[in-house]
Amino acid sequence: MAEDLTILTNVSKAQQYLSLIPQLEALLTGEDDLIANMGNVAAALKEQFGWLWVGFYLVKNDQLVLGPFQGPVACTRIQKGRGVCGTSWAKEETLIVADVDQFPGHIACSSASKSEIVLPVFVGSEVVGVLDVDSEELGHFDEVDALYLNQIVKLIYG
Ligand code: SME
Repeated sequence: MAEDLTILTNVSKAQQYLSLIPQLEALLTGEDDLIANMGNVAAALKEQFGWLWVGFYLVKNDQLVLGPFQGPVACTRIQKGRGVCGTSWAKEETLIVADVDQFPGHIACSSASKSEIVLPVFVGSEVVGVLDVDSEELGHFDEVDALYLNQIVKLIYG
């Protein structure tokens, strides 16, 4: 079965998400392996949007540990409450950071990263990891990304 994604260019960000989400639903439906699904979500998002870094950290023994991702090599472990990822986990909230240099305790895995969005991945009421996306542009992420990325992470366990 061909697994090639249809990638849209020259359309709005919302239209790009709306094209990608049904394709991800098809790709993830019937597969319950967490790592496989996270790997395909990271790859599909990278292919559609071309962000600097997109990937997952998984909660293991009360730390976040690097999971499937696309982009430059990254920090392996993040403590709860540290950096944008550890704060999103601790607060159980989506965090949009327009300028990472203004976020107290931001962990700079790549000096090229200028803005970031992190959202918790829930199974039931428990956070099992976070999705982290980094951009080379300041102020790149907004509520449109928060809305659709939250829909996408729900597919992982669907
Ligand atoms: N900047 C993140 C660390 C992870 S990397 O960006 C891939 C943070 O502050 O938590």
